[in-house]
Amino acid sequence: MNSGFPYIRPRRLRTSQNLLKLVSENSLDPSKLIMPYFVMHGSGKKEPINTMPGQFRYTIDELLKELKNVIDLKIGGILIFGVPEHKDELGSESYSDNGIVQQTLRAVKETYPDLIVITDVCLCDYTSHGHCGIVDAEGYVKNDETLEYLAKISVSYAKAGADIIAPSDMMDGRVKKIREALDDERLVNIPIMSYSSKYASSFYEPFRDAAFCTPKFGNRKAYQMNPANSDEAILETELDLDEGADIIMVKPALSYLDIIYRIKQTFKRPLAAYNVSGEYSMIKAAAQAGYLDEERAAIEMLTSIKRAGADIIITYYALYAADIIAKM
Ligand code: PBG
Repeated sequence: MNSGFPYIRPRRLRTSQNLLKLVSENSLDPSKLIMPYFVMHGSGKKEPINTMPGQFRYTIDELLKELKNVIDLKIGGILIFGVPEHKDELGSESYSDNGIVQQTLRAVKETYPDLIVITDVCLCDYTSHGHCGIVDAEGYVKNDETLEYLAKISVSYAKAGADIIAPSDMMDGRVKKIREALDDERLVNIPIMSYSSKYASSFYEPFRDAAFCTPKFGNRKAYQMNPANSDEAILETELDLDEGADIIMVKPALSYLDIIYRIKQTFKRPLAAYNVSGEYSMIKAAAQAGYLDEERAAIEMLTSIKRAGADIIITYYALYAADIIAKM
């Protein structure tokens, strides 16, 4: 005799895939996936990122070609990271009208006006020292001074065409500051997707190679969260929501499924989870070594993030997964 729900696990080895799909509790939808892209100056170049097999740094013209796939596969949106030409103490390319992200936004919006383009707002790609804020001579990150810059970057991105502003720096009070700056410029309809609980994680390592933003000294533990903490994620998220965040985020995703679950249960707000570079590269490397099946592992990873409670998943596997989902 079968107990429980015989339709879900009918003990029959040749159970129909359609039946399993019909009774499954969660599924992946490409329109809920966001694909990150690294953009650099120049033209006609698509540079492989060694630490992230299958991912590239694109010049704008090459990115526009690539985005055809994003449209065809009906991906929910893209997240832009700039690889600047020029780095200095104040990260000045980040808020320049001719910065790489601003140029990208104008080009993408001209070609694909309906594509949702999200911009990561942070100084670390643009500062010579690689930290997410302004650093003083004694090695302190100057929180409040950094907020002025984050606000300036956000307004500049929104004016260049960004649909959503996503601050990833983890400075205190940034969401409020950015909201006020956007509202002052009448950009009241630009939502903020806040990296509300961002952990100081080893899983960002491949990204730092992709964006050339490894800190030259110290580390990010002074402003990113301790992986041992969970209540702190609730507190950080609460603060960001009070300050006006529209979408909240947990980052990384895979080692933090409990945090995703808690945040979704507690706040019931639109929640994004960032399936970060290290999570992508781990599966890539294992698949390349022949240790596991990439398609199954990638889909299982993304499904678990969804099951934990994420509404939106930011993942380097977005196009790959959408392609598999279309065939399923
Ligand atoms: C910038 C930023 C980082 C990531 C997203 N935005 C790097 C970091 O904080 O060190 C990591 C994304 C990834 O690993 O895929 N602050």
